[in-house]
Amino acid sequence: MDLHLSTAEPAAAEREAIDAAFAFHAPAAAGLTADDRPTRSRHAGHAARSRRHLLLPVLHAVHDAVGWLSEGALNHVARTLQVPPAEVYGVATFYAMFAVEPRAPRVVHVCDDVVCGPNGGERIAAELGAALGPEAGAGATDRPDACWVRSPCLGLCERAPAVLHQRAGEPDLSQAPASPSVVLAAATAPADPAGAQAAAADRAFADAAVSAPQTTTGEPLRLLRRVGTVDPGSLDDYRSRGGYAALRRAVDLGPSRVIAELKDSSLTGRGGAAFPTGVKWERVAQSPERPHHLVCNADESEPGTFKDRVLMEGDPFGLVEAMTIAGFVTGATVGHLYVRGEYPLATRRLQDAISAARARGYLGPDVLGEGFAFDIDLRRGAGAYICGEETALLESIEGRRGEPRNKPPFPASVGLFGRPTAINNVETLYNVLEVLNIGGEAFAAVGGGRSTGSKLFCVSGAVAAPGVYEVDFGTTLRRLLDLAGGVRGSLRTVLLGGAAGGFVLPADLDVPLTLEGARDIGATLGSGVVLVFDDRADLTATLRRIAAFFRDESCGQCVPCRVGTVRQEEALARLERDAPIGSRETELALLDDLARVMRDASICGLGQTAPSAVASAIDLGLIAVPTRHQEDGR
Ligand SMILES: Cc1cc2nc3c(=O)[nH]c(=O)nc-3n(C[C@H](O)[C@H](O)[C@H](O)COP(=O)(O)O)c2cc1C
Ligand code: SF4
Repeated sequence: MDLHLSTAEPAAAEREAIDAAFAFHAPAAAGLTADDRPTRSRHAGHAARSRRHLLLPVLHAVHDAVGWLSEGALNHVARTLQVPPAEVYGVATFYAMFAVEPRAPRVVHVCDDVVCGPNGGERIAAELGAALGPEAGAGATDRPDACWVRSPCLGLCERAPAVLHQRAGEPDLSQAPASPSVVLAAATAPADPAGAQAAAADRAFADAAVSAPQTTTGEPLRLLRRVGTVDPGSLDDYRSRGGYAALRRAVDLGPSRVIAELKDSSLTGRGGAAFPTGVKWERVAQSPERPHHLVCNADESEPGTFKDRVLMEGDPFGLVEAMTIAGFVTGATVGHLYVRGEYPLATRRLQDAISAARARGYLGPDVLGEGFAFDIDLRRGAGAYICGEETALLESIEGRRGEPRNKPPFPASVGLFGRPTAINNVETLYNVLEVLNIGGEAFAAVGGGRSTGSKLFCVSGAVAAPGVYEVDFGTTLRRLLDLAGGVRGSLRTVLLGGAAGGFVLPADLDVPLTLEGARDIGATLGSGVVLVFDDRADLTATLRRIAAFFRDESCGQCVPCRVGTVRQEEALARLERDAPIGSRETELALLDDLARVMRDASICGLGQTAPSAVASAIDLGLIAVPTRHQEDGR
C-alpha cells in the first residue's frame, strides 16, 4: 500500500491536531469487534478496519485547527489511520466544508438557497464581495484572514437570511437573521479562541419563540412541548419536565413489548420514507447477527427543512433519551448520532447533554443500574446533502465518500460495518418518547391510516410567522398557514415536501396533511417543508436554484443522476433565457424524458426525486416560459 501522496510532511500544528484526535477517538475504535467490517473492504486487516471510521473526525480535527487540509496533513492522516492516501484525498474532497487548497482561516458561508437568497442572502453575498473580494475559489481574495463562499440551505429558514461562520481555531457560529454589517463585523473581529463570540451567537438563538412560535401560546404540544421551556443545558430540568419517564417505561415493558407498542401506534419514520418504526426495530432486535448498531440521522440538509435542528437545540436530552430507548430495544450498545456539520449550536448542546447524561449514569456500561450498556458517539457531517440518505450516511461514518449503496440489502439486515442497523430520523425518535408516554393505542388515535400522531412542518417564505409548527396529522394546509400567521400578500403556490416534493395550488389548500392526503393531490409531505410563495415570487429562478442544488449535491455515482441533473439545469436556464434549442415544446419534452430516466434508473432517492419539483411546476403551469412566438405577437 502506497502511503505517500507526495513527500509533504505536516506542519507541527497539523501533526498535533491529528495525533490528538486519533488519541481521543482511538478508544472508541477499540470497541469494534474483529467481525465489524466496512462494507466495501471486507478483506482489509482488522487494524485498518478499526481505524478507517475515524477518518471524518480526524479530518475535522485538523481542518478545525488550521482551516484547510494540506498534502502534508493528508499524508499524516493516511499514515496514522492506515488508509491509502488516494482514498483519504477522495474523502476529503467529497465534503463541501473541507478545503484542500490554502484558504483564509475564517470562512463565511452565505446561504443563497430558495428562502435566504431572495430574502437578503444575495445582498449579503454582494456586500461581502465588495468588502472581502470575490468568492473564495473564484479568484484572489482581498484579505488573508477572511473569505466567503455561497452555500446551499443552512437550515435556518425561519430566520432568513442566514450565514455560517466556519473558523479555524475558534468555534463555528451561525447568524440569522443576518445583515451585511453584522456578518462583516463578525468575520473581521479579533481572534476569539475562547469562543465568546460563539457563546453570544448561541444566546441570540435562545429565543425559541422565533423558531417555534407555538411554544409561547400555551397550546398542548407533543414533540415541541419542552422546546422553549426546558433549560437545554440542565439534566435536572429535563427530568423535572417528564424527562426519562419514557425510558423507565421502556425498561419496565422490556424490548418486545416496546416494539408491540410501536406497532400499535403505527408510527412511521419522519425522515421522508415513512417506514413503520416498530417493524424496523423488530427486524434489528431479532437479527441473530451481532453486534447491532443504532444510527440517528440528524443530517437535515433538504432546502427548507429545519425541524430537527429546532428539536435538538431546544430539547437535546430528549434525543439522548430516545436514542437510549432505541439502543435498549434493538440491542445496540452504541448509538451513532450524525449531526449536520452546519449546525454548530445543536452540536454543542447535544455534546453537552451526552456528557451530562454520561456523568450521571444515564449513558454508560450500566444505564440507570438496569443492566444494559449504551453510549452515544456524536459524528459531525461536513457539508454533503447526500449523506442524509441512510446508506450514504453509513458509508460516511465508515470513513468513505458518502455514496449510497444499492438496496437491498437494507440497513436493518446489512448496515453499519455490515451489521444489522436501525437508522432513524430525529423527529421519529422524539415520537418514540410520546408513544411510550401515552401508549401505542392513544398515539394511533391521533390522525389515522399510515399517518398517526403529530407532525412537524417547517413553514417558511411568504408567511407572517415562519417557523416549525406541530399539528396532528389530518390538519389542513390552510389551517397550518393560518397558524403561521397567514400568507403575506397574495398566495401563488406552496412547495410541499421540499426540493424533492411538489407544488400545491391555492385551490388545494384544504388538503389534509397526511401521507395519503398529499398523495391524492399528487404531492408528498417529504421531510415537512411548507415553502410559501406569493405572486411576486420568481418561480423560474427558484426552480433553477433547486436544479443547481441537485446538480451540486449528486454524488455522481450513477449516470442518470450525474448527467440528468446537469441537463435539467441547462434546459431550465435556456427556457429562462428564452433561448430553447429547437422549440419550447422540445425543451419541455427533454425535461420530461430526463425526469423519467432519473426516476427509473437512479440508484437512490436523490436522483429519483431531483426532477419532482420541476415536473410539478411544469404540470401546474407555474413557470412562465415565454416563447418568441408569443412575444412577437404572431
Ligand atoms: C437524498 C436523501 C436525503 C435524505 N436526507 C435525510 C435527512 O437529512 N434526514 C433523515 O432523517 N432522513 C433523510 N433521508 C431519508 C433516509 O434515507 C432514511 O429513510 C431515514 O433516515 C430513515 O429514518 P426514519 O425511518 O426514522 O424516517 C434522505 C433520503 C434521501 C434519498
Ligand atoms: S442517484 Fe445521484 S446521489 Fe444517488 S447514488 Fe446515483 S448519483 Fe449518487
